[in-house]
Amino acid sequence: MTTILVTGATGGLGRPTVDLLRSAGHDVRALSRRAGDGRVVADLETGAGLEDAHTGVETVLHLATTRKSDAAQTRTLLDAARTAGVGHVVYISIVGVDRIPFAYYRDKAECERLVEESGIPFTILRATQFHGFVADVFLATRRLPMMLTLPVSDQPIAVEEVARRLVELAEGAPAGRVDDIGGPEILTLDELAAQWQRAHGTHKRVWRVSIPGKTMAAFRAGHHLAGLPGYGTETFAQYAERRARGTNEA
Ligand SMILES: NC(=O)c1ccc[n+]([C@@H]2O[C@H](COP(=O)([O-])OP(=O)(O)OC[C@H]3O[C@@H](n4cnc5c(N)ncnc54)[C@H](OP(=O)(O)O)[C@@H]3O)[C@@H](O)[C@H]2O)c1
Repeated sequence: MTTILVTGATGGLGRPTVDLLRSAGHDVRALSRRAGDGRVVADLETGAGLEDAHTGVETVLHLATTRKSDAAQTRTLLDAARTAGVGHVVYISIVGVDRIPFAYYRDKAECERLVEESGIPFTILRATQFHGFVADVFLATRRLPMMLTLPVSDQPIAVEEVARRLVELAEGAPAGRVDDIGGPEILTLDELAAQWQRAHGTHKRVWRVSIPGKTMAAFRAGHHLAGLPGYGTETFAQYAERRARGTNEA
């Protein structure tokens, strides 16, 4: 049994990761800014609560994100982890953060650098987009009479499968940057939109929007893809069906 602090424990990736760690018998500190069952309260922006949260912690799984200022928060976390003598930091990143000039990705690449230079033994895993992220993009435009897509492909992966890999890495020795992981298929956003519509019984016209610029060119070039065969096994179509059934079960 290892004492593991999980940041981002209440998030889409954090929840299944905490569940898997607990069912494997680990002592899990689920970090959140809000109090709740089994949680430790701390704020990565102010540093409040971080010292107490690290007491006796052997491994930190850093999954929290603000989607705007992750580097500053990661620096604050690493300072606390170093002071507490943490032996292993596992960081979740995104495939292509060093090759796609997107502000959030630059921030994630800076987080990777901070982890690598922290002096704390580390493991960094990059994953492709989660199925839920692709679904959120489609849901964001659900009130429109058409579905909007981009002329790019994606390799979405089930968040539970990313969680499973993270648990395996947290239980192992620090491994540096490990192989990227992605889902079982690479499909165009048009194909993913069609699968989403099939699962939900909708028949909207799909409108592909072209956006100029280096960021979109990097996505079009596929720098965010992990390649096949993918690590994940659940397809986006299967995920869309379970969402349409209103169940979270695979
Ligand atoms: N979404 C994707 O497709 C994808 C793909 C690859 C990698 N990733 C990476 O996976 C990680 C998790 O993503 P996600 O989609 O699961 O995130 P999410 O659902 O948006 O959750 C964000 C988490 O960050 C925590 N957080 C935010 N600000 C905080 C602060 N100041 N102090 C402490 N905690 C704070 C939140 O905790 P509270 O609100 O409870 O405080 C929440 O648990 C991120 O690093 C992301 O970059 C995501």
